[in-house]
Amino acid sequence: MIGYSRRAALAAAALILCPGGLAYAASGQDIALKGNGQGAMACSACHGKLGEGNQEVPRLAGLNAGYIVHQLVSFASGARQNDVMGPIAKALSDTDRQAVASYFAGLNPPEAKTGGAAKPDLIAAGAVLAQRGEWTKGVPACDQCHGPAGSGVGSAFPRLTGQNASYITNQLLSWQKGDRHNDPLGLMKGVATKLDKTQIESVAAYYASLPLSGKATPAIATPFRTEAAKPVSTPAAFTPPPESAIPNNEFGKMVRLGEAIFTDTQHYAPGFVGNSLQCANCHIDRGRLANASPLWAAYVVYPAYRSKNKHVNTFEERLQGCFRFSMNGKAPPAGDKVLVALQTYAYFLAKGAPTGVSLPGRGYPRLKKPAKLDYAHGQEVYASHCAVCHGAEGQGQFSAQGDTVFPPLWGAHSYNWGAGMHSISTAAAFIKANMPLGEAGTLSDQDSWDVATYIDSHDRPQDPRFNGSVSETRKKYHNSAMSMYGQKVNGVVLGENSPPSGTVPAPH
Ligand code: HEC
Ligand code: HEC
Ligand code: HEC
Ligand code: HEC
Repeated sequence: MIGYSRRAALAAAALILCPGGLAYAASGQDIALKGNGQGAMACSACHGKLGEGNQEVPRLAGLNAGYIVHQLVSFASGARQNDVMGPIAKALSDTDRQAVASYFAGLNPPEAKTGGAAKPDLIAAGAVLAQRGEWTKGVPACDQCHGPAGSGVGSAFPRLTGQNASYITNQLLSWQKGDRHNDPLGLMKGVATKLDKTQIESVAAYYASLPLSGKATPAIATPFRTEAAKPVSTPAAFTPPPESAIPNNEFGKMVRLGEAIFTDTQHYAPGFVGNSLQCANCHIDRGRLANASPLWAAYVVYPAYRSKNKHVNTFEERLQGCFRFSMNGKAPPAGDKVLVALQTYAYFLAKGAPTGVSLPGRGYPRLKKPAKLDYAHGQEVYASHCAVCHGAEGQGQFSAQGDTVFPPLWGAHSYNWGAGMHSISTAAAFIKANMPLGEAGTLSDQDSWDVATYIDSHDRPQDPRFNGSVSETRKKYHNSAMSMYGQKVNGVVLGENSPPSGTVPAPH
């Protein structure tokens, strides 16, 4: 009696702890290896016993379960057209899809043999596109959405490593032809339609060449032969020298260090950063892109008077401010190697630019003030156009190793209340010109203002100039309709409960 009821209680507990979980695991495996008996044949017949894939068929093992379900739904609806997978996906019930997706998501077999290796120069060209993008055509780096070395991020951005080159190529062509149109915000359609045949071939070869462990070639190791970036939006903008022009000497080493600090601030300037951002998150394409506050335009206008601190700032002091506010950290002391390297990088990018003039493309192009700022509409814009990357709570998304892929927009890991981006007008200008990533310029001005209002109405680390009183600090530094600091939103006075500035928060 006792034995029986204990077993029953355990079974009941298991059901409560993982509702359906046990049943899914079993039937997921059955479907994968034997089919569902309702018309969907065994997945293993094509995808392999462990979902490892082959030259023709994609690897399913280790893909995010939510992503797999989304693909099965897309095959069934025709949003992703494929003669083989269409009927199979239609023959699966919702429960079958969940079950088989969880099953494959949990597998990790060794990589399938994909045959002969591609030419090294093809792979190298693909690496540039994957890690740098082609901003002259408005194409972000693939890794900016797919994570470092294409390792995948969350349920929306699939892992690319482990897929063979012909599969990757076919998918990019499908988006070009319109056979696959199931992607959130049309993000991949936007990317694929801007690529030419050679780029597709090279980037497919690159991802297919990466080991599953996801170790990419170091981004800054080789002087890539990239063309100089000519931004599409402002043809008159200055063109910084290409990376290949960085000389191989002591000066060049310092340029490269500056670039590394700018793009991977967390690792190259530890101790000075108190959030999860990189400089390049707000200064896109490594500080090269016009209308994303490029470094080349900044370098030539300092020393300059700044109303923020009411004196003439050297370029070095301007950089120090970025660490204190945007990076919520500590300013490196004057002359510190971090500042020397960043100045050297900016100087290199500005090579050949006229000094003392405000170049076209400097900063973020300001938008005309609207009649009204609409928080509720901003919340809607955020949910439909931003949350897929930045997270429903503005918390950002990170790779499995903890690297920032989609930067946090508010909360303890974001910029603080003293940063330029906390000003609604600055954020609106940045967003209009640069977001959503890869689809810049698609939001209306009003949408940009409203979503900026929404973002900047959330709490974030304290202003480092905080003097103990939120209302006093507001009066002194935030006396503007563009700052929500000290204002009451949803019953809370912003700034009253902010995490202290300059402290590194617990990892996400
Ligand atoms: C007859 C061969 C075949 C069988 C059986 C098969 N697949 Fe596929 N599957 C393919 C091919 C081919 C593709 C690539 C389709 C394309 O090019 O869009 C594919 C693609 C997929 C994808 C998309 C992967 C990605 O990375 O986007 C998923 C998910 C998938 N199959 C799941 C399944 C499941 C689950 C089953 C079993 C119920 C199954 N497949 C059975 C051939 C098959
Ligand atoms: C702006 C974000 C973004 C960028 C940049 C991006 N992707 Fe994607 N990619 C996506 C999303 C989202 C999906 C998933 C689409 C879906 O749900 O079907 C995807 C899917 C894919 C797939 C299909 C994978 C599979 O298993 O079927 C391939 C291949 C791909 N991307 C290649 C690339 C390449 C190559 C680049 C760079 C040239 C790139 N992507 C850049 C967002 C992006
Ligand atoms: C496809 C993914 C994607 C979408 C969608 C997207 N962003 Fe971003 N966003 C990024 C990435 C990646 C960066 C960092 C850019 C870089 O490093 O080059 C970024 C940077 C930012 C930044 C500056 C960095 C920070 O943390 O403050 C803001 C502000 C921002 N996005 C706001 C938005 C808003 C508002 C929307 C919606 C209208 C949006 N983004 C949609 C990917 C996205
Ligand atoms: C959260 C976004 C964000 C981050 C992160 C960030 N910045 Fe900025 N940066 C801005 C904004 C906003 C401005 C002001 C641009 C404007 O108002 O047009 C700015 C301005 C600058 C300027 C002056 C530009 C000019 O034309 O006068 C420099 C130089 C600069 N940042 C460097 C950096 C460096 C170096 C880092 C990393 C240590 C960094 N930024 C991190 C948002 C950011």
